[in-house]
Amino acid sequence: MCGIVGYVGPRVAQDFLLEGLQRLEYRGYDSAGIVTIDGDLEFDIHREVGRIKKLAQLVNERPSSSGIGIGHTRWATHGAPSIRNAHPHIGGEGELVLAHNGVIENYDELKNRLLKRGYTFHSETDTEVIANLIAECLKNRRSKAADEDRDDPQLALDALKEALSQLRGTYGLVVLFKDWPETIFAARLGSPLVIGIGDGENFVASDASPLVGYTDRIVYLSDNQVAVVNANGIEVSHRDLGLIQHDVKELQMDLTSVDLAGYDHYMLKEIFEQPAALRNTLRGRLNDDDATAVLGGLNLTPNQMRRIKRVIFTACGTSWHSALVGEYMMEEIAQIPTEVEYASELRYRNPPMCENTLVFAITQSGETADTLAALREMKRKGHRTLAICNVVGSSIAQEAEGGIYLHAGPEIGVASTKAYTSQCVALAMLALHFGRLRHLGYADGRAIIEQIRAVPDAVEQALKTNDRVAEIAAKYKDCQNFLYLGRHFNFPTALEGALKLKEISYIHAEGYPAAEMKHGPIALVDKKTPSVFVMPKGFIYDKVMSNLEEIKARGGPVIAVAAEGDRRIEKVADDVIFIPPVQEFLQPIVSIIPLQLLAYHIAVLRGCDVDKPRNLAKSVTVE
Ligand code: G6P
Repeated sequence: MCGIVGYVGPRVAQDFLLEGLQRLEYRGYDSAGIVTIDGDLEFDIHREVGRIKKLAQLVNERPSSSGIGIGHTRWATHGAPSIRNAHPHIGGEGELVLAHNGVIENYDELKNRLLKRGYTFHSETDTEVIANLIAECLKNRRSKAADEDRDDPQLALDALKEALSQLRGTYGLVVLFKDWPETIFAARLGSPLVIGIGDGENFVASDASPLVGYTDRIVYLSDNQVAVVNANGIEVSHRDLGLIQHDVKELQMDLTSVDLAGYDHYMLKEIFEQPAALRNTLRGRLNDDDATAVLGGLNLTPNQMRRIKRVIFTACGTSWHSALVGEYMMEEIAQIPTEVEYASELRYRNPPMCENTLVFAITQSGETADTLAALREMKRKGHRTLAICNVVGSSIAQEAEGGIYLHAGPEIGVASTKAYTSQCVALAMLALHFGRLRHLGYADGRAIIEQIRAVPDAVEQALKTNDRVAEIAAKYKDCQNFLYLGRHFNFPTALEGALKLKEISYIHAEGYPAAEMKHGPIALVDKKTPSVFVMPKGFIYDKVMSNLEEIKARGGPVIAVAAEGDRRIEKVADDVIFIPPVQEFLQPIVSIIPLQLLAYHIAVLRGCDVDKPRNLAKSVTVE
């Protein structure tokens, strides 16, 4: 969703801000803006609806060499996408400008109070309320300050903190004050902010991607922290307490992870990065000697793990689908009762307490608002909460009591691909780990390790279907409805395949357990509604074949994803995509590959903006 960048130092701030905003485009946005402070100490604001390219054209008409500025991409919540609602927003009579991510829940009440005190509003946003509130706090403090303290930056910091303490909701924000033109003030509560430490320059951003290539030293702000950022240093303090010692971490991203590397789209690049991403998730975690997976980040002793009676996976979107795969794995391999919950539902439910329940939030970004809220609610109920997460230092990674990092590298395409398969393989390791602490013998553990180890190569093979999938995409691209059907381990694959197609091509697609389609969706079957059957060889194969025949008997075209060497399927399906065989519990990781490619090619052929699908955001930081 919304993105933030900030720069202070010797460079031309506008250049960094525009490039940084471009790198944040993947988060989803509908308008953008930047502000710098010019030589006469005036704010130079540019705002535009639509793409960053348009904003850059506007900026080029009136370039500035200023070395300080902030920028923002907005995904509309309060008020439609428009220039006047775009950030940055001015506070008071131009004393400050501000850009904000998050949602302020009590903005109406604050706005009414400020209106009565004579403040005017030019937008419908909750952000402008924060800007005016800070201006009000600054005015009050200034009127009470001794003459010699009126220009002290401490005054601005105190005014900012006073305003923040009146806000209810979430914010990651950056502020520039006219009277302190060499400083960026930054604050976070529930919406991420990082600071990049340079030599004689410093950077601020809502995630690390804009900083790559500029610095690899990074400070992750935590909730309720406020930072004062100058070219030569930063100071971090708690909103209600004093100064805080901040940790500088090393940023593990390079430029190849944030550029297209010759691919047409990030989504395609990330689909093809999957063998490497899977190897990174597995690296150092398969232990042959003990025939188990090494997952030290869980922060649980073997005895604590043996006492676990129930596991809950909670997630949203694609991560919810990997949670379903995880449920099947946990039951089959670890034999632990496992439930999967939509985070947006779990956060408001009150499931009966059950002792020794372990809750995992599964999330690529670590910032999804509902997943974070569900995690907090479960923590409140006394459950141990862990995370399976890709983004190091993200909110959920910080709040969970432990977990598994995916190490899949930055995922920029809005439609999740490599994070999904990495989540699935992490869940396979989790199931193995728990299984080995309970009933699973050494030989079984070793066999599972070998099967897991074979997965990246199988995915590499599956990617070779790309040309074949492109042909199939051309044949079916004009269909308006698709059914995706699979059973057992490949039921989640059907859901995820359907989600991929609808997300990026805007074609209606439904995923169903193959047998369940008789209870409704079969009514949709006609010559123009293809059914995509996910049916690699396994114990359920014959049953799925019967479901396929039922569709064929009603004249529906069938595309099948099947195992290499399956001659039977060729006779019944209209089109077949062959994938290499792997153990059944690992099939979802391989069978999803052609479905990701199918969605991608259909979307490209239909002229859709694959990496920035309409209305969607990469990480949904509002409820
Ligand atoms: C958004 C994205 C999806 C993603 C979901 C959950 O809806 O568009 O691709 O699966 O959020 O995101 P998370 O970062 O928590 O996995």
